[in-house]
Amino acid sequence: MSSHLTILGIETSCDETAAAVVVRDEAGQGTILGDVVLSQLDEHSAYGGVVPEIAARAHVEALDDLILQALAKANMTLADIDAIAATSGPGLIGGLIVGLMTGKAIARATAKPLYAVNHLEGHALTARLTDKLDFPYLMLLVSGGHTQLVLVRGVGEYERWGTTIDDALGEAFDKTAKLLGLPYPGGPAVERAAASGNADRFTFPRPLVGEKRLDFSFSGLKTAVRQAAQSIEPVSEQDVADICASFQKAVSRTLQDRIGRGLERFRQEFPDASQPALVVAGGVAANKVLRATLQELCDRNRFRFVAPPLALCTDNAAMIAWAGLERMAAGLAADELSVSPRSRWPLDADAAAILGSGKRGAKA
Ligand code: KG4
Ligand code: ZN
Repeated sequence: MSSHLTILGIETSCDETAAAVVVRDEAGQGTILGDVVLSQLDEHSAYGGVVPEIAARAHVEALDDLILQALAKANMTLADIDAIAATSGPGLIGGLIVGLMTGKAIARATAKPLYAVNHLEGHALTARLTDKLDFPYLMLLVSGGHTQLVLVRGVGEYERWGTTIDDALGEAFDKTAKLLGLPYPGGPAVERAAASGNADRFTFPRPLVGEKRLDFSFSGLKTAVRQAAQSIEPVSEQDVADICASFQKAVSRTLQDRIGRGLERFRQEFPDASQPALVVAGGVAANKVLRATLQELCDRNRFRFVAPPLALCTDNAAMIAWAGLERMAAGLAADELSVSPRSRWPLDADAAAILGSGKRGAKA
C-alpha cells in the first residue's frame, strides 16, 4: 500500500498519557501533525516510582481531552483519520486497558481499523520517522523499564540480541539516586551531580564486560554504589558527585564493551549493509555522557549514530501512530476489536525469557 495515510495514535502504557496525529505520504515520509504528551511525574514523584493505580486513573482523566487536543493541532476531526493505533502492551495493565479501550471505542464508532501496537515496536521504528532509516539496523532501548539491544530487520521482524538480566539501566540510575538522597527520577539528578565529580575516585564493577553474550547486568553496580557510600559516611556533596561520576563512568565502559560487540556482530551478519546504524531510544538516551560514548563508539566502527529528538526517545504517541502507519504501509492486517492488552509482550517472541529481565512493573 503506498497511499497517503493518516492515523491517530494513543499511548498509556506507563506514566505518560499521549495522543498524536501522524501522516505518511506516498513516498513513505512521515510527518507529525499533532503530538501531545501529559507527564504524570508530579503524581508519582512523592512515591519515588510509578504507582499503577494512580497512573490508570490519571490516564482516564486526561486521555479524551488529549485526543481532542492532538486532533485540533492537526486541524482535523475523526472523519479525517484513516485508522487508530493504540498501545496494547507491554506496560501497566490498568493504563493499557484505558488506552486500548478508548482506541477500540473510536474504531467502532467511526468504523475505522484499529492497530494494537507493541510499545517497544514504537520505540524501534521511530528512527524511520525522524531519520528515514533503512532496514536493517540496531536499536538500543535504555529506559526505566527496559535495556535491550534489538536487531530491527523490518516491520514486525525483531531479534533481541541482548537484554538486562536484572535491573534496567534507568532503574539503576533511579536506585543510585535514591540511595544518595537525590530526587526522582534519578537519571537527570545523577547526571547533574556527576558533572562536578571525579570519575576516577571509585572503581565500580563492569558486569559481563568481556563476555561474548550481549546481555547487560546493573544490579551489582547499584550494590557497589551503596557499599561505597556506606564506607565513607557521612557523605558530603562532593562525595555524592564523585560517586555519581564514577557510576556513570562504569556504565559508559559497560555500554562501550556490550554495544561494541553488538556492532561487530552486525558487521559479521550484514557485511554488505551500506549504511550500518545504531539507534538509541528511551529516557536514558538523554544522558550526554552516555550519548557521547555511543557517538564515539559508532564513529570508531563507522556506524551511523541516530538519536531521535528526546521528546521522541521518551514515551509518546507519535511513535505508536508511526508503528501503526508502518504496519498499514507494509500491508499487515489490522487487529480485531476483541484484541486484549498484554502487560508482557516481548518484541522478539523467540528470545529466551530471562529471569528478572529489568521489568519494573513492565515499564518500558
Ligand atoms: O523512557 P523513559 O522516559 O520512561 C520509561 O522508562 O518508560 O525513561 C525514564 C528513565 C528513568 O529511569 C530516568 O531516570 C532515566 O530514564 N533518565 C536518565 C536521564 N534522564 C532520564 N538516565 C540517565 N541520565 C539522564 N539524563
Ligand atoms: Zn517506553
